[in-house]
Amino acid sequence: MIEYLSEIKEKALLEIKAAEDLQALDVIRVQYLSKKGEVSLMMGKLKDLPQDQRPSFGQKVNETKIAVEKALFEKKTDLENIELLKVLESEKIDVTLPGYQFYQGSIHPLNQVIEDVEDLFVGLGYEVAEGPELENDYYNFEMMNLAKDHPARAMQDSFYVDENTLLRTHTSPVQARTMLEKKGEPLRIICPGKVYRRDDDDPTHSHQFMQIEGLVIDKHVNFANLKDALLKMVKHLFGHERIIRLRPSYFPFTEPSVEVDVSYVKKDGSIGYIEVLGAGQVHPNVLKMGGYDPEIFQGFAFGIGVERIAILKYNIDDIRHFYMNDLRFLGQFKGVGK
Ligand code: PHE
Repeated sequence: MIEYLSEIKEKALLEIKAAEDLQALDVIRVQYLSKKGEVSLMMGKLKDLPQDQRPSFGQKVNETKIAVEKALFEKKTDLENIELLKVLESEKIDVTLPGYQFYQGSIHPLNQVIEDVEDLFVGLGYEVAEGPELENDYYNFEMMNLAKDHPARAMQDSFYVDENTLLRTHTSPVQARTMLEKKGEPLRIICPGKVYRRDDDDPTHSHQFMQIEGLVIDKHVNFANLKDALLKMVKHLFGHERIIRLRPSYFPFTEPSVEVDVSYVKKDGSIGYIEVLGAGQVHPNVLKMGGYDPEIFQGFAFGIGVERIAILKYNIDDIRHFYMNDLRFLGQFKGVGK
């Protein structure tokens, strides 16, 4: 009987060793260890033995059971590991494959200039304002002190939708809109946006371009405050290398008025100047029409030509590059600015 028991053990261990997968292993488990399995049946044989042999035989059966269980467990662990390795192998990520190519865009050079100017002025307490590109003649001209028959209107011909509606010729109408909105309260704003003029496009002219308007209205605002703001801005944009020139000028909506030029090095090595903005103290008529008493309030305003700043900053020779959507041009401005 004992011999038979060890035969069962040998056989079980061999089968376990040879099992190829978990399913086969389970069949072996049932065959030997289930209630009617070969090892369990041996337990039933106890009663056939003489009383004195029962304890040692019972012990042997138990040892066999434990040995088979142990072998099953070890084989199961082995097979599970093999299975896991197979899964890992089949799901392996091949890191040597070339990745997908992502194209990274960049901020348009004109928007970089606008963001740069906004950063400065927001830091100085200005709000950013906006106005419509399709504008009323009233805001674009009349509230800017350019009556219907004013000769300076000739310099700002535009695209008219009807007699009183045009594509704005400058961002100055946002001055008028903001003044009316603030109802006599002090204000400081900058307003970037597109403007339009009737012009034939060439390397230095475009029928559509961009400006940034600035307006400050408060008590005790003087020309020195304007000059301070302008110089701060030009230094912020160009650093200290460029020479800045303020020239007396004329705008119907400011008095006195100036134009600001920034120096650049010409191709032949000599120094030239490019006008980058117009500015001045707000004309009393404009204040009055905007709802401010010029005896109490003063203000200054400026209008920056965004393309001109970008042309100077990045040495660009044709304004039309900004609008052509040519990636060979735009791709050169990645990471410039910030
Ligand atoms: N609006 C003027 C222009 O387009 C610029 C300007 C703005 C001048 C504000 C003075 C004050 O030419």
